[in-house]
Amino acid sequence: MSENIRVMIPEDELDRRIAEIGAEISRDYEGKEVLLVCILKGAAFFACELAKRITVPVGIDFMSTSSYGSGTVSTGVVTIKKEMDLDPSGKNVIVVEDIIDSGNTLHFLLGYFKERGVASIKLCTMLDKPDRREVDVKVDYTGFTIPDEFVVGYGLDYDQKYRNLPYIGVVEE
Ligand code: IMP
Ligand code: MG
Repeated sequence: MSENIRVMIPEDELDRRIAEIGAEISRDYEGKEVLLVCILKGAAFFACELAKRITVPVGIDFMSTSSYGSGTVSTGVVTIKKEMDLDPSGKNVIVVEDIIDSGNTLHFLLGYFKERGVASIKLCTMLDKPDRREVDVKVDYTGFTIPDEFVVGYGLDYDQKYRNLPYIGVVEE
């Protein structure tokens, strides 16, 4: 069955907002270096665009977590599927996520990085679905706050499809 995708956030709005966040991070970290930790796979597109807009020295690393079983409902238990390569201790880490939903993933990562002795830790997400929050997490940089709908595109998938869409959309069956 073919699915129809309704555009929720067009590409030019994403570009504009990412440039704003990049400028904000550049101001906040003036005179320092940041280490962007991109959470695969969903945040890859966002993290790359964001990195290009940051003017202070930027390191990039990747890790992968899993909070979902096979379905679309979070299990609440977050595990690391792929560790990062660099040692984050003593670094100014910014975790870059595609979307915060239940909050379990970012809550877990916040604790994880604090234990690894980072100089500072901030959280950055492209999208926020606050209606679905189960754990309270303070996010430092948010692209867009969206309603409780399952979204795809700009890295986000539905069954591994649609990650390459250049906009954020909603799957309509
Ligand atoms: P959380 O731990 O519930 O906050 O889950 C965050 C993760 O769930 C994200 O990094 C996504 O991989 C996935 N996710 C949550 N909502 C959506 C959605 O609407 N579309 C695609 N993936 C989603
Ligand atoms: Mg994710």
